[in-house]
Amino acid sequence: MIYAGILAGGIGSRMNISNMPKQFLNIGKKPIIIHTIEKFLLCNKIDKIYVGVNPDWNSYLVDIIEKNYPYLISKIVIVDGGKDRNSTILNIIDSIKKDKGSILDDDILITHDAVRPFVSIKMIEENIEGCRDYNIVDTVIPSFDTIVISEDGKFISSIPDRKVMYQGQTPQTFKINKFMNYYNNLSIEEKNILTDACKIFVLNGEKVFLVNGDFSNIKITTVTDLKIANAMIMENLDD
Ligand code: CTP
Repeated sequence: MIYAGILAGGIGSRMNISNMPKQFLNIGKKPIIIHTIEKFLLCNKIDKIYVGVNPDWNSYLVDIIEKNYPYLISKIVIVDGGKDRNSTILNIIDSIKKDKGSILDDDILITHDAVRPFVSIKMIEENIEGCRDYNIVDTVIPSFDTIVISEDGKFISSIPDRKVMYQGQTPQTFKINKFMNYYNNLSIEEKNILTDACKIFVLNGEKVFLVNGDFSNIKITTVTDLKIANAMIMENLDD
């Protein structure tokens, strides 16, 4: 089975313009999270879409869907998000287990930040394809900027070759049972530091297959990102 997990458990503290988590702010005519869910609905390879939402905002999401987007009700399962991004993923996996009874070794979860509404169907499908041959897939773009490393935040320690530098986006897609095995073997300390699913696989010697993301697949983090996202949406007035 192929499951999607939309990660919407955050509070958007860096956005700082409203008490409302950024995934509920509108771009164009709809909340960001609705744009993102609708992208996943367009992919008919996905069996079920789970949305992990901040528990304080769970009923708000249910309300807006019932009122304004009732066609989504039968297509998604809304679950409480966790205290950090990985905990939101774990809650989604728990919920899949409860719904299905068990998870098979080739069942995959395609995880995606709710605040990246410009994900393309191509990226979603290439993630799913890649995860048939590899246990984990990441979506990346080449780094156009030079990356500098500074150990102390004051002076440059080194400058890696830009040609081998990429920036991570989402989706990130993995075989659920593999992820759970690796995650359960981490110490409590490692669980707090290792916030990226790909890193957990890399540390276990797994090859992470790369799918091309796009510069348009922005993560809406700040007010500037929100303005850029609104400008991008205006190009397609139907949205
Ligand atoms: N996320 C999540 N569960 C958490 C924290 C984050 O599902 N406990 C999700 C966010 O909702 C977002 C994605 O992970 O869709 C990327 O995280 P980020 O942009 O950092 O979102 P926030 O944590 O909400 O933002 P901030 O760090 O500014 O508070």
